[in-house]
Amino acid sequence: MIRRFTLYMLCLALAGVHGHAAAEQPTRPPTTVVFTADLPTEGSLVLGVFAGNELGPLGQEIDANADGALTRAIEALEFEAEASTSQLVAAPRGSGLQRILLVGLGERLAPKSALEWQTIGGNAVQAAIAAFKTAPPLAFDAPADNTADLAFGAKLGSYYFDRYITDGERIRSQGELTVVTSAADAVQDIYRQALDPVADAMWLTRDASNEPANLLYPESFVATWQGHFKALDRVKLRVLDERDMRKQGMGAIYGVGQGSARPPRILIVEYSGGRAGDAPIVIVGKGITFDTGGISIKSAKNLWNMKFDMSGAASTMGTLYALAARGARVNAVGIAALAENMPGSNAQRPGDIVSTLSGKQIEIRNTDAEGRLVLADAIHYGDITYDPVLLVDLATLTGSAARALGNNYAALLTRHDELVPDFLAAGELSGDRVWEMPLDDEHFEAIESNVADVINSGAEGPGLSTAAAFIGTFVREQTPWVHFDIAGVAYSDEPAPLKASPGSTSFGVRLLDTYIRERFETH
Ligand code: BES
Ligand code: MN
Ligand code: ZN
Repeated sequence: MIRRFTLYMLCLALAGVHGHAAAEQPTRPPTTVVFTADLPTEGSLVLGVFAGNELGPLGQEIDANADGALTRAIEALEFEAEASTSQLVAAPRGSGLQRILLVGLGERLAPKSALEWQTIGGNAVQAAIAAFKTAPPLAFDAPADNTADLAFGAKLGSYYFDRYITDGERIRSQGELTVVTSAADAVQDIYRQALDPVADAMWLTRDASNEPANLLYPESFVATWQGHFKALDRVKLRVLDERDMRKQGMGAIYGVGQGSARPPRILIVEYSGGRAGDAPIVIVGKGITFDTGGISIKSAKNLWNMKFDMSGAASTMGTLYALAARGARVNAVGIAALAENMPGSNAQRPGDIVSTLSGKQIEIRNTDAEGRLVLADAIHYGDITYDPVLLVDLATLTGSAARALGNNYAALLTRHDELVPDFLAAGELSGDRVWEMPLDDEHFEAIESNVADVINSGAEGPGLSTAAAFIGTFVREQTPWVHFDIAGVAYSDEPAPLKASPGSTSFGVRLLDTYIRERFETH
């Protein structure tokens, strides 16, 4: 009798408290880019052409083998080769090729930014996939740096979230892209060292962010990134579960998680690429794997978009992945604050008061203002545990930020104005653009509570600023802290040159990777 009971208990324990099996790890490898100096001798080809229809060595090789037929074909077309335009031509007889998609690279001597080159690469691969269904080899003869950027753009431009599309006829991500370029080795060196790690990081971030919430929840988010980080050096992972949260007094994240059958988690990634003892950069991400609003429930319209409410956490992990994969010479820590905001029978209520790691007491006015709650504990943990040289948080925090700045700028809020210019610059360089919004004493005053220390949502006023003030309440004033509200930019319904799918943009990965590279790694 006793033995049978023990066996029963053991089975219960193995099955987990709520009866579901071990967390899945939704994942797939990113597309790989292969470089070669050899032109294909059959099939189709993408060929980059500068304005004025200047052919590079690869184009000249095809042209010479066909007695100038390529040049004649191009001239007959009046193709201007402006940046990001394209034109399909029949391949000259004798080349063995069938069709060539000419893609414009713009004026050869006009300087273009890395981002402009990448955009051309993204448009080229998308035009190729539209023309041929799958991307043929991409022949580019720009200078090595620029060709590496074209390849980076092509990889991201071919990103589709297609894991659950079983119809083989539909357009999908390429497992592999081939770039043909005369200086293949030089291009490959640049690409592998500086660019592919970032492209991989963005790819994995998008996949995590796009996953539906039935498959990606706090535990499976942790399992997925544990899998990704396994391959990287100088990385240490730690996980806090709901018992740790209770023990340490993290009542705010615990309270958000308690309405869901899926327990909350905090995933911590420590990367040590810098000198031992140097204070790390700490990045904290909002990881609400689904936001129903909780008891202050949201309406049904566009509710499905709330599967993206963990995008800050995904981009935080993605940034750490990029830093570790390219061997950045910095110390950095990423913290994902993970919970599902559900209105279960154990859910917290408006009016509840929760106690935080900092000791401050929060009056819950609105259970839909949950992002700032999970961040309150996670950011305080990051601040006091690591004493960071820079503390950043990324969060799909308020509709207010999306309304104020639309889909092209994230909101930046900080008490440390001296940090702003370099972030604006990194935004322009990377394409993850940011704009500063106000954070003043009045915003801190607006969130005082009558019955506790702070309320989690003010009734009226500038929601993006009071939300930032709330988070700032849990950060020491002297810590150089910058908050990014990415609610408007984390996902989009439109494809873009560097993203073929609607959905996650991986916003923040490039911004922070670029900022860190420019500020901490160039001496
Ligand atoms: N996750 C939302 C913010 C959001 C809204 C992100 C739209 C992306 C698109 C957040 O948790 C939220 O619900 N914020 C509330 C705060 C309010 C209750 C104080 C909001 O912005 O309405
Ligand atoms: Mn919410
Ligand atoms: Zn939310």
